[in-house]
Amino acid sequence: MKTIIEPFRIKSVEPIYFTSRQQREGLLQKAHYNPFLLNARDVIIDLLTDSGTSAMSSEQWAGIMRGDESYAGSESFFRFEKVIKDLTGMPYVIPTHQGRASEKILFTVIGGEGKCVISNTLFDTTRANVEFSGAEGIDLLCPEGKIPAIPASFKGNMDTAALSRVIEERTPASIAMVMITVTNNSGGGQPVSMANIREVSRICKQHGILMFIDACRFAENCYFIKEREEGYAHTTIANIAKELFSYADGCTMSAKKDAFANIGGFIALKDETITEQCRNLLIITEGFPTYGGLAGRDLEAIAIGLQEIMEEGYLKYRIRSIAYIGEKLDEYGIPYIKPTGGHAVYLDAKAFMDHIPVHEYPGQVLSSALYLEGGIRSVEIGSVMFGKYGTDGSLISPPMELVRLAFPRRVYTQSHIDYVAEVIVEVYKRRKEYGGLKITYESPMLRHFTAQFELI
Ligand code: F0G
Repeated sequence: MKTIIEPFRIKSVEPIYFTSRQQREGLLQKAHYNPFLLNARDVIIDLLTDSGTSAMSSEQWAGIMRGDESYAGSESFFRFEKVIKDLTGMPYVIPTHQGRASEKILFTVIGGEGKCVISNTLFDTTRANVEFSGAEGIDLLCPEGKIPAIPASFKGNMDTAALSRVIEERTPASIAMVMITVTNNSGGGQPVSMANIREVSRICKQHGILMFIDACRFAENCYFIKEREEGYAHTTIANIAKELFSYADGCTMSAKKDAFANIGGFIALKDETITEQCRNLLIITEGFPTYGGLAGRDLEAIAIGLQEIMEEGYLKYRIRSIAYIGEKLDEYGIPYIKPTGGHAVYLDAKAFMDHIPVHEYPGQVLSSALYLEGGIRSVEIGSVMFGKYGTDGSLISPPMELVRLAFPRRVYTQSHIDYVAEVIVEVYKRRKEYGGLKITYESPMLRHFTAQFELI
């Protein structure tokens, strides 16, 4: 059969509230042209993030009822710990309330003034936590990862030649760790190959540098390895994951992504000393080591979700449903990062809104237009999210201006996706009607969450 159907039935539904274009005009203005400032009720299709927005399974809801809420040594923790040990092969597991809590703890222990963290690409909160510790974040994405229009199998790979060069320049002692993000969220949800992870690990070991995985979307990455990398076609996702984690000294994870959970995260580690330092911080900031900022029921939902996510029927449907949008966009020559990624479609806003200069934020304009036209909420990943100012006050831009449409897991059906494609096409046809934006308010860190804009 050609049609890949959603591998689930729907047991419980939530209403979508509809708005008119005219209403959205007012709502967008009130939200200062920043989709983060919209009320969720005023959004028709919410593709702001795939984080914490998954539909849990009946098994996960059953797990919620089983949750053991003991302060210390709860059964739910031991189930959670076992699943993560089996998945990663790492002996130490620290629960946290979400990914950035893991990052805060880890970089407080390992980062700091005078150090740097090297990555294929650090995501926004990860970079912010590196910088907050006093360390510097350095992204070394492979060259093909920076060209949206040219497809390649593993555009999330790290540039290993650049890695060797930077290690030589900086000296190993000044490098807190190398962190590989799978899939590469800021760069199109693109996967990293096993060969690349192996090579990065080899270079790190040679210089005595720690290597970590940001494992938010590990299962999607493993599925791409199975599909695209030689030698993995007959390996199970669990075994691919085990190999992937075997190259690292530890990992951080936001369970809000590839664990189908609405909240949660963890750090998994091989080193006992680092674990002890992390646990000491955990007790101050998150909670006792057997719950770490979560309820027992959350630990259950995560443990079950981490197993469900590795089902190949699910991953096949997941990756295919994102690629399906890409095919629709191809019919109109709409620019996006090719191929489509694991959890999202990334429109190339620089090419899409090519009449708007980068300092007028083409990504933010496109994101606003998608809301105005069809009530779709997306997120800018470009100069608003990652832009910095030079000493003369001019904008320093990241390599790409993107708009991400991230799909919550198991939430939207094919007709929702068809609608999204229609709206993108409509905005594309009318793109010249949209003008630039300027910032009227911004915070010193992670400004995209709260920034306010005005039409120029
Ligand atoms: N690392 C990556 C690669 C992420 O995508 C995220 C979150 C985090 C770390 C932090 O995890 O949200 O649980 O604290 N990304 C979300 C997103 C927010 O929309 O992509 P968190």
